[in-house]
Amino acid sequence: MDKKNSRSHGSINLKFRLATETDLGNIQSLTNWAIVHTTANLDIQPNTSEQIQAWWNHHGPEHPVWIMEADGKFAGWASLSPFSPKIGYRRMVENSIYVAPNFHGNGFGSNCLDWLIQEAERLGYQQIIAKITAENEVSVRLHLRKGFVETGRLLEAAEKFDKILDVVILQKKLGEA
Ligand SMILES: CC(C)(COP(=O)(O)OP(=O)(O)OC[C@H]1O[C@@H](n2cnc3c(N)ncnc32)[C@H](O)[C@@H]1OP(=O)(O)O)[C@@H](O)C(=O)NCCC(=O)NCCS
Repeated sequence: MDKKNSRSHGSINLKFRLATETDLGNIQSLTNWAIVHTTANLDIQPNTSEQIQAWWNHHGPEHPVWIMEADGKFAGWASLSPFSPKIGYRRMVENSIYVAPNFHGNGFGSNCLDWLIQEAERLGYQQIIAKITAENEVSVRLHLRKGFVETGRLLEAAEKFDKILDVVILQKKLGEA
């Protein structure tokens, strides 16, 4: 077993592997769960297969998508996406993490963020950024604990489920312990 991409959580073995197109169904289902049930994703309507495919087409070796597997079962996905299509922003990458609800609270999100930071460094990025709905306190705390700092707050930037929402900008300089 490759120790680098695999960790133990009690009796559960968590493994990270690069996603392939055959994972898009699971990615779509989990993303749509978050769209329908949470404000973590600010889409309102579930994403169609065509939308997921378009998102996938913007990823690749420099902006990978990973699958988390818990004892071989799909447990979530994570990605490093371009912060902006403008080439001047190429030193910065944006992270996303979606843990399947039946696996929440097992430390997977925490391990996944460690993984993304390590991979972003390996890929040569200098800054990693997350835009998180302020009410997603679990995710904000998770990022702060990993050394992200709040560098901005978009006040009343979004609206979902009849709520007006702030969005927190959190970033971390890479290559620092
Ligand atoms: C946010 C998310 C990634 C966290 O993943 P997770 O695997 O459940 O998180 P972990 O088990 O690693 O827990 C991280 C921390 O949050 C705490 N936590 C987890 N779930 C919690 C909950 N429901 N309520 C309060 N605290 C919680 C844990 O105790 C842990 O804190 P600690 O290290 O101080 O003990 C996950 O809930 C998720 O995928 N949510 C939907 C999508 C999303 O919000 N993505 C992030 C936005 S970019």
